[in-house]
Amino acid sequence: MTDRSPPTKRFLRALAGETLSPPPFWLMRQAGRYLPEYRETRATAGSFLDLCYNPALASEVTLQPLRRYGFDAAILFSDILVVPDALGQTVAFREGEGPVLTPIRSAGDLSRLDASGLHQHLAPVYATMATLSKAIPATTALIGFAGAPWTVATYMVEGSGSKDFAQTKKLMWSEPETFARLMQMLTTATGDYLIRQIDNGAEAIQIFDTWAGALPEDQFERWVIGPTRSLVERIRSERPGVPVVGFPRQAGILYERFVTETGVDGVSLDSGVPLAWAAEKLQPRCTVQGNLDPILLVAGGEALDAGIDRILKVLGKGRFIFNLGHGIVPQTPPEHVARLAERLKGWKG
Ligand code: CP3
Repeated sequence: MTDRSPPTKRFLRALAGETLSPPPFWLMRQAGRYLPEYRETRATAGSFLDLCYNPALASEVTLQPLRRYGFDAAILFSDILVVPDALGQTVAFREGEGPVLTPIRSAGDLSRLDASGLHQHLAPVYATMATLSKAIPATTALIGFAGAPWTVATYMVEGSGSKDFAQTKKLMWSEPETFARLMQMLTTATGDYLIRQIDNGAEAIQIFDTWAGALPEDQFERWVIGPTRSLVERIRSERPGVPVVGFPRQAGILYERFVTETGVDGVSLDSGVPLAWAAEKLQPRCTVQGNLDPILLVAGGEALDAGIDRILKVLGKGRFIFNLGHGIVPQTPPEHVARLAERLKGWKG
């Protein structure tokens, strides 16, 4: 594929380095349980993974929040754990419990995974992307995504969510060769998956490293920066012109090394990143995205307005995409999202 012409969609212009006023916006987890129409579709789909693998329903739930709020970008409806599922690990989502996987804790467990059926297994996700690329409004950008290898590995090794990642870190430090093989397998599969999303219509990529903040600096360098850099380099060489946004959540001051050493076009900030620091250290190097506390969207009212304005004042002067610091939570009143959308659209920086 050759380089594309300069982007016209606001979200892509911001990633290409333009400062826009008002800034483009979308919200992580903008499709989901806070919307009654999502819950209705979800109830007809069977399991959560059945919904992810149903192109008609997955594209419908992707479009639902666009109809309400006019976001500048749509993100493919899927989950980061479809990759382990496609590698042959047993993955299930239990109501109120989150994901449950048969853990990978040894070289023997790892040898039972198999990447040869990846694209066949993920074909419905590619079909969702192709459907969306025809269905979204002409001014809306289409985002593809994957979990970063480190974050996906934590779910694969723990077998569920975790507070301390003890099993994953134990494998990382006591069986470094096995852990390195798992990370290599994930990095290759994730790159293959993202390239195929681009070929089906994704115009930008976001890589979610939700648990990046759990690693000390040397391991952060190896297992967060390293795999992300290789994904960025691969996309840049095989599909030039498609921007990549990284989200090394809770990386603190390591956000700076992440930006300079991975070469991402954009970085998504968690709500703990100080705005003035981000404006000084990160914004000159790439587009920043973020970082409203998702619970402010639950609280609403004047606190929400003040939280929005505080971010706009500091980050709105540079290359910026408004978003949350993490995903929308299910108890968010949809009217509060409407209030946010209205305030952003009316902002004059
Ligand atoms: O709108 C969007 O942002 C696109 C869809 C999307 C989902 N998950 C849908 C989903 C995206 C981008 C994700 C990413 C994801 N999934 C991450 C990284 C981002 C983050 O939030 O940190 C992670 C860590 C996961 C893993 C995951 N998926 C967990 C831990 C859970 C259970 C917690 C929960 O909220 O229920 C999920 C389930 C999930 N993924 C739901 C949705 C809408 C809820 C399940 C349901 O509707 O029944």
